[in-house]
Amino acid sequence: MKRRRILSWIATAAWMAFIFFMSHQTANESNELSVGLSEKIITVLKSLYPSIQEDGFPLNHYVRKSAHFFTYMVLGILTCNALLIGKRNEKKAYIQGLIICVLYAVSDEIHQLFVPGRGGQVKDVLLDSAGSLTGLFVYGGFRRLKDRIRLSEKAKKRLKKFSYFGLILLLVLFVYIQNYTLTVSEFSIPSPVDKPVRLVHLSDLHNQTFGKDNGRLIRRIDRLDPDIIVFTGDLIDRKPVNLEACLRTMKMLAEMAPVYFVPGNHEYWSPLTKELFEGLKNSGVTVLSNETVEVEIRGNVLEIIGIDFGANQAYDFDDTGTSSYCILLNHYPEDFWRFKGKGVHLVLSGHAHGGQFRLPFGGGLYAPGQGFFPYYDSGIFQEDNMYMIVSRGLGNSVIPLRIFNRPEIVYVVLKPDSA
Ligand SMILES: [Fe+2]
Repeated sequence: MKRRRILSWIATAAWMAFIFFMSHQTANESNELSVGLSEKIITVLKSLYPSIQEDGFPLNHYVRKSAHFFTYMVLGILTCNALLIGKRNEKKAYIQGLIICVLYAVSDEIHQLFVPGRGGQVKDVLLDSAGSLTGLFVYGGFRRLKDRIRLSEKAKKRLKKFSYFGLILLLVLFVYIQNYTLTVSEFSIPSPVDKPVRLVHLSDLHNQTFGKDNGRLIRRIDRLDPDIIVFTGDLIDRKPVNLEACLRTMKMLAEMAPVYFVPGNHEYWSPLTKELFEGLKNSGVTVLSNETVEVEIRGNVLEIIGIDFGANQAYDFDDTGTSSYCILLNHYPEDFWRFKGKGVHLVLSGHAHGGQFRLPFGGGLYAPGQGFFPYYDSGIFQEDNMYMIVSRGLGNSVIPLRIFNRPEIVYVVLKPDSA
């Protein structure tokens, strides 16, 4: 009995931590998740009812509200279950359960006041409370049913198996969200540009696909309406790849905006290095292998340097020697120090995969080239007036699993200094 009670409280606390984690996401991250889920639902509905119209129907809004309701319904069930183990006073336990859930909903909304782009709402507390109350009724109903129906040993075993199946299903859903739903991380950097420049930074796809022909990835980037797209290596993997599919994706990106690419280590570990570089050039992608190009975007002149440490000669330069805003693409974030004091303004890197497994409110666990608890695992770093943004990447290589580290599209806005 004592063991069951402890396990029940652990399950309740874990669910509360999950709610906290979801609330800790920025408005953009949270919206991207619900938009991704809405797209899935629309795809399924359209396959069932081809004539269905999605225009004007706020499905995303309903997905978000249903998610609120459902998570608190589960919390209501778990809390009552933990309170009722070994206790006889049901009524008291239900009231206590409801109070715990409502207080947690209030604290959850207060928490969201401190999360960028989000805010606390009384109507969300009411919705969460309604979800919790439904959870209490569902739990109470099942309890009554269980008392009335005497289950045979065989039925009990089946029920147990069914519970395990439910848990496995939840685990599969969690892994799917962590590995196949895209998130967009936004950064705004003050720069000496006249008009804002919208840049999309991709990295480490490792031949993974998001939807047929990477449709989900392409649509998500298209919505950001970038002026320029950069890819910082490991588009393919050292394992055998479908090169044609990769090149189709890159061609679609190149039709959207100018694309600049630097190779990563996997491009050189693959037997298809030569074919890939040829294919990229034919797809309209500019491959920068220790080269610098000058580009004009929305009236702003930008210098783009592409570092390729996999090429025979490492690219070295004393100073960019330019007065233009200088963006440097380099696969390896641990090289950041190399570019200090050389006139570079922004370094974009990948390779670290966000540390592969991330602690919910901490950093990554392991990154190639940096080892355990890597410093340059994701996000933005600054050295004097030089910034570096490290992408967590989109795919996996050696370890085929990400935890608390969803595939990332980096969106950078170079904002005029004067703005
Ligand atoms: Fe890499």
